[in-house]
Amino acid sequence: MNDLVIEAHNLTKVYQMGDVEVHALRGLSVSIQRGEVVAVMGPSGSGKSTLMNIIGCLDRPTSGEYYLDGKRVSELKDDELADIRNHKVGFVFQSFNLLPRQSALANVELPLRYAGLNRKRKERARTALEAVGLSDRLYHRPNELSGGQQQRVAIARALVNDPAIIMADEPTGNLDSSSGEEIMELLLQLNRESKTTLIIVTHDPEIAAFTQRVIQIRDGVVLGNENKAGLEL
Ligand SMILES: Nc1ncnc2c1ncn2[C@@H]1O[C@H](COP(=O)(O)OP(=O)(O)OP(=O)(O)O)[C@@H](O)[C@H]1O
Ligand SMILES: [Mg+2]
Repeated sequence: MNDLVIEAHNLTKVYQMGDVEVHALRGLSVSIQRGEVVAVMGPSGSGKSTLMNIIGCLDRPTSGEYYLDGKRVSELKDDELADIRNHKVGFVFQSFNLLPRQSALANVELPLRYAGLNRKRKERARTALEAVGLSDRLYHRPNELSGGQQQRVAIARALVNDPAIIMADEPTGNLDSSSGEEIMELLLQLNRESKTTLIIVTHDPEIAAFTQRVIQIRDGVVLGNENKAGLEL
């Protein structure tokens, strides 16, 4: 099988800080198959979030080529990048990033608004909340939900667009270990049911153990790329 949802060649990212250049990515290449569950690990400052921002179409590389779902995105204009992001990528953050004054349902509807989808918005949001086990919390606001439930809302929001990839940056970082495990199991269940590719940045080896492959990043390049059979890919 060769159905790559992510194909990145020789990515570099240089941040200009006054006179100083920070080389956050230094010729990084990575490929991810459709439906794969991958962990991205590495020390603080190694370039994980920089890479995630590029893969998630929040930012562009300084050089290199990037294809998402077969589309070359490395040289798109801002509005084209936003359009791809709204249709192809779902994000889950460590701090949930929900709108505090909005209900769970309204939070989950948001990406559909951004994608310009007006038909059946509420219905789709409701279905996504059902999929994460929150059909009885549709009208609760974030502060009326537990941490684990808030992250479930965020996961429903990430999947409501039926994205090609879901990217999660430390999704269990603010949860206790049993809620964290439940969130991981939910993400894996969604992956099995919908074949959505899942990319999880984590410092936690127990979270990485749930995935099929661990991509190790050091100093802006891929150091190791190990699947669960222990084989170097
Ligand atoms: N917007 C920015 N402007 C300048 N330098 C940046 C910017 N974002 C990141 N960097 C630098 O790029 C390097 C990589 O940062 P990045 O945030 O990708 O690391 P990380 O692996 O996500 O770390 P952590 O595990 O702490 O989240 C670091 O040296 C950082 O200081
Ligand atoms: Mg980071």
